[in-house]
Amino acid sequence: MLVVKNLSKRFGKTTVLKNINLVVNKKDRVAIIGSSGCGKSTLLRCINQIETPSDGKVLFEGIPLNDKETDINKIRIKMGMVFQQFNLFPHLKVIDNIILAPVKLGILKKDEAIKKAKELLNKIGLSEKINNYPKELSGGQMQRVAIIRALMLDPELMMFDEPTSALDPKMKLEVLDLMKDLGKTGLTMIVVTHEMQFVKDFANRVIFMENGEIIEEGSPKDIFNNPKSKELKEFLENICI
Ligand SMILES: Nc1ncnc2c1ncn2[C@@H]1O[C@H](COP(=O)(O)OP(=O)(O)OP(=O)(O)O)[C@@H](O)[C@H]1O
Ligand SMILES: [Mg+2]
Repeated sequence: MLVVKNLSKRFGKTTVLKNINLVVNKKDRVAIIGSSGCGKSTLLRCINQIETPSDGKVLFEGIPLNDKETDINKIRIKMGMVFQQFNLFPHLKVIDNIILAPVKLGILKKDEAIKKAKELLNKIGLSEKINNYPKELSGGQMQRVAIIRALMLDPELMMFDEPTSALDPKMKLEVLDLMKDLGKTGLTMIVVTHEMQFVKDFANRVIFMENGEIIEEGSPKDIFNNPKSKELKEFLENICI
């Protein structure tokens, strides 16, 4: 579904991503781990072209995304993204946040969008918050609304950039559980996270990055029980699991 080929990213003279190669298959649940500053967010941003790669290619279902001919906005609809800081519109109620994109893009009529939004809110137990403003929600609730908002467009790939790092432990669990449930539906997901227990429970593939490079890749078992590189061994020793 997604192929990243020899991708590099430089900001001025600083090389932030070096020759990244990555294939994500349908239904993969990929976790990206690595120390702060190693380039995880930049990689996600290069995948959906918020950042333009300096070198290399990103192909989504065979379509080269960093190609002038490609209508990136059309493809972005298929790639949902959820950030650490929810990014809900503060002046819009929950329901209006959720239906904004599909209605504006002409994907759903307003009444269809409201119906779908209600179903999704119901599924995650937030029906009663439909007419509240984001500031009236807890962090965990806001993040779950942000996830639903992304799901309204029926993305084929969902990317999450540290979706729980701004949350306290209880709220973290709500959001991590929702992501695990999404994984079980067969949605293809890439999650950047520092939550190692979640990675073990959730991912079928783990990517370890350091200094802008993919150092090791494997199943959670490979990565956590049988790390090969010196870098990964050090990383695992320094985090509390
Ligand atoms: N727009 C930018 N201009 C210059 N340097 C940048 C820019 N964006 C990121 N960087 C640098 O690129 C490196 C990788 O940043 P990135 O945000 O991708 O790291 P990360 O792995 O997501 O870290 P964290 O776990 O802290 O979120 C950092 O050294 C950062 O300072
Ligand atoms: Mg980051």
